[in-house]
Amino acid sequence: MRLLTLWASFAAASLASAARHLPPRNYATHDYYAIHVDTSTSPTELAAHLGLEYDGPLTAVPDHHLFKALKHDNDVVGDAREDLKRRRRKREVGLDHHPLDSVKFTQKQKLKPRHWKRSVVPPVQRSRAGVPVTDATIAQQELARTLKISDPIFDEQWHIFNVQVPGNDVNVTDVWKQGITGKNVTACIVDDGLDMDSEDLKDNFFAEGSYDFNDHVDLPKPRLSDDRHGTRCAGEVAAGKNNACGVGIAYDSKISGVRILSAEITDADEALAINFEMDKNNLYSCSWGPPDDGKTMQAPGILIKKAMLEAIQKGRGGKGAIYVFAAGNGASADDNCNFDGYTNSIYSITVGAIDKNNLHPYYSEACSAQLVVTYSSGSGDSIHTTDVGANKCTANHGGTSAAGPIAVGVYALALQARPELTWRDMQWLTVMTAVPFDQPSDWTKTVIGRNFSHQFGYGKLDAYALVEAAKTWKLVKPQAWYYTPWMHVKKAIPEGTTGLASEFDITADMLKKANFERVEHITLTMNIEHERRGDLKVDLVSPDGITSHLATSRRDDDAPMGYIDWTFMSVAHWGEKGIGKWTVIVKDTVPDNGKTGNLTDWKLRLWGESIDAKKQELLPMPNEHDDDDHDVIEGHPAHTTSVELPSTTSPPPEATDVPDRPVNQKPSTTQQGGPSSTTSVAEPVSATTPAENLLPSIFPTFGVSRRTQIWIYGSIGLIIVFCASLATYMYLARRKRLRSTRDSYEFEMLDDADNDDDGAGAGMLNGAGGRKKGRAKRGGELYDAFAGESDEDLLSDSDGEEGPYRDQVEREEYNEKEGRGDSDAGGSNASGSSADRRS
Ligand SMILES: *[C@@H]1O[C@H](CO)[C@@H](O)[C@H](O)[C@H]1NC(C)=O
Ligand SMILES: *[C@@H]1O[C@H](CO)[C@@H](O)[C@H](O)[C@H]1NC(C)=O
Ligand SMILES: *[C@@H]1O[C@H](CO)[C@@H](O)[C@H](O)[C@H]1NC(C)=O
Ligand SMILES: *[C@@H]1O[C@H](CO)[C@@H](O)[C@H](O)[C@H]1NC(C)=O
Repeated sequence: MRLLTLWASFAAASLASAARHLPPRNYATHDYYAIHVDTSTSPTELAAHLGLEYDGPLTAVPDHHLFKALKHDNDVVGDAREDLKRRRRKREVGLDHHPLDSVKFTQKQKLKPRHWKRSVVPPVQRSRAGVPVTDATIAQQELARTLKISDPIFDEQWHIFNVQVPGNDVNVTDVWKQGITGKNVTACIVDDGLDMDSEDLKDNFFAEGSYDFNDHVDLPKPRLSDDRHGTRCAGEVAAGKNNACGVGIAYDSKISGVRILSAEITDADEALAINFEMDKNNLYSCSWGPPDDGKTMQAPGILIKKAMLEAIQKGRGGKGAIYVFAAGNGASADDNCNFDGYTNSIYSITVGAIDKNNLHPYYSEACSAQLVVTYSSGSGDSIHTTDVGANKCTANHGGTSAAGPIAVGVYALALQARPELTWRDMQWLTVMTAVPFDQPSDWTKTVIGRNFSHQFGYGKLDAYALVEAAKTWKLVKPQAWYYTPWMHVKKAIPEGTTGLASEFDITADMLKKANFERVEHITLTMNIEHERRGDLKVDLVSPDGITSHLATSRRDDDAPMGYIDWTFMSVAHWGEKGIGKWTVIVKDTVPDNGKTGNLTDWKLRLWGESIDAKKQELLPMPNEHDDDDHDVIEGHPAHTTSVELPSTTSPPPEATDVPDRPVNQKPSTTQQGGPSSTTSVAEPVSATTPAENLLPSIFPTFGVSRRTQIWIYGSIGLIIVFCASLATYMYLARRKRLRSTRDSYEFEMLDDADNDDDGAGAGMLNGAGGRKKGRAKRGGELYDAFAGESDEDLLSDSDGEEGPYRDQVEREEYNEKEGRGDSDAGGSNASGSSADRRS
């Protein structure tokens, strides 16, 4: 007991900025464990028991701690837990509290491949000399005088004031004239460093919010030759009004840097980084992500998800950190930001790019999770900003990497104008003030009268419109959610012109019970077995007839698997009521290649505004095994119906279907001709009469499996056997799913006690899920069965290669063509794509 009290006070005292005080990790000599330890045991006691060294609290996530030991092959913690379980099974050890019982989660840390930076090496720049003096240039000079801007490249910063195509900029100058310039707001650039000694950044640099998680030192100084990306992004946000380079969108804001992209890191370090000093950093700018190669499918690990939710719930005094992610540069490789678990998180604002002519640049990815676009490279120009060096500028910052930080700057202005905006208010303001523009795309009018396109989100950011709206915005009520049960389909996805549709009716009553008023985000978690993942296309049609293209086909994605608990996200249903029939339609877009598959199951989650703010609780932290309850039939009051739709006569439910690849997208010229124009217009699928409820209402037939017997004969006295057996079963079931060879399907009933909190529970990013209490407990017991098998390992076919190999060829081409070796082109991890083919 005394130990506990001691521990508690130690924890409280050290929580403040312990990330900084954790001893630097040394992955060359040590292995590390991130462990969730409950209060029944102190971390030091646990460490002693396991023979580990206690490093300190992993402050990113409550009650998580970091332990280390000299490098070793096995998983010390996992093995010890297995051993304890085994001995309890054999009754060698009793059920009284054991130090290991305090372990709620453990993960041996693995270095993982670096994220890709999302910049693009732009083509040769048009000479700026000889830009004719026009009314616009005169207005620009006038503006600079008024605001006392003497930064030498201000006149090149067309994204701030476009003299060539007036109007094609972020419309920020009248915001500045009101004195709204980012004061009292801090943005954190999570990247490859930040040159705090740059003349343009040093006055705004905020050391307290900064750290280097690659070299484990306090200051995120760029050290590698290609560590320029973070500094360039920082300049876009917060380059000072001075005599160096240009200005940032929020030139009086503070800027901090967290360095993670310059070496391999672990999930524990990334978790620490992603909410670093969240009491001081208000916004996190993330211009990176899993490879944009058109074949990777990767989501943040559970620690990182928890860390993001932590910042969403506790950052900015509970208003929530603002996360901005660059959409990704893989459009010409058919990539889609819904295959990236960072950009498709409900907690991140996903920002794509348009060029100075409001054209879609070849690289910028589309997806239903994309909220907005803003300016970046293309049409012969790119973003002009600060570079690494005392007084160095670049005219070559591009890709969605350069779009994200512009949005961060705009949001920093909004936070100065209205500090009490929550993370969801910022998304609402973006939806309500983004400006659709006249470019062919799949623009669809949503129920709240906004226009949405998968390629451009709700349009382009308009700083003036957003900040003006922010001033008087009525804050939204807390977030509520509603989860459907798992919908067990287990049917073949027909090849040919037919899609497989499955639907669920959400009633007004269900939403009322969930305290749910209206939709903001939706997420769809699903399992599909398929012999070729890239063939798949998934649409979701809402009761209001709005279609989200959740998954689009990818010509290079040969992964011989489908989706394993993958979560897609859409912002296209923003403002809908959510009541009525939601239809999931899965298609195999390449019917003649002999690759087939089955839709296993899906679960839809609605996220949005609550009805009664006072009744609304905070979302619980997600758990690792939130989605492991597939085979559990939840006693949801509604009947689930799964319908296979033969291709018949009635019109498709997609009222507003349009080509996936909007017409103005230039097809890739370098890739040999895959089905690049898979403009799969909706196949005529139609709803037949819904089939009977698939769920049996009495005991299913289980045969004689161990698990079944336990279900039937199990009692509290047998609970240990139960857990072990279930663990084995779940393990096997999961294995089977992984091998895509499950050929029988079972249902099981849970008792009523487990059924009444449906729609509550944890969930975020990917693999979220509200869980029954009983279930969660069993899930906890199951952990060891899956130790070492993160979804990332399973889902990603990326084999740890560093660097954007897709770009390499193109980059060489470019260098040859331009006869120069841009420093960007040298680094292994500098992203960078080819010359802009549009120009
Ligand atoms: C830009 O800002 C001005 C005010 O400076 C405002 O009148 C206008 O509506 C904004 N949007 C556009 C697209 O011009
Ligand atoms: C700066 O922000 C903090 C936290 O939001 C707030 O308490 C403080 O009043 C602000 N200061 C100014 C000068 O706006
Ligand atoms: C949406 O697009 C339609 C058709 O182009 C247009 O008439 C309407 O004004 C747009 N709505 C908004 C909010 O921009
Ligand atoms: C789909 O289900 C059928 C029947 O259960 C099975 O034979 C087939 O192997 C499954 N396909 C895949 C890709 O798992």
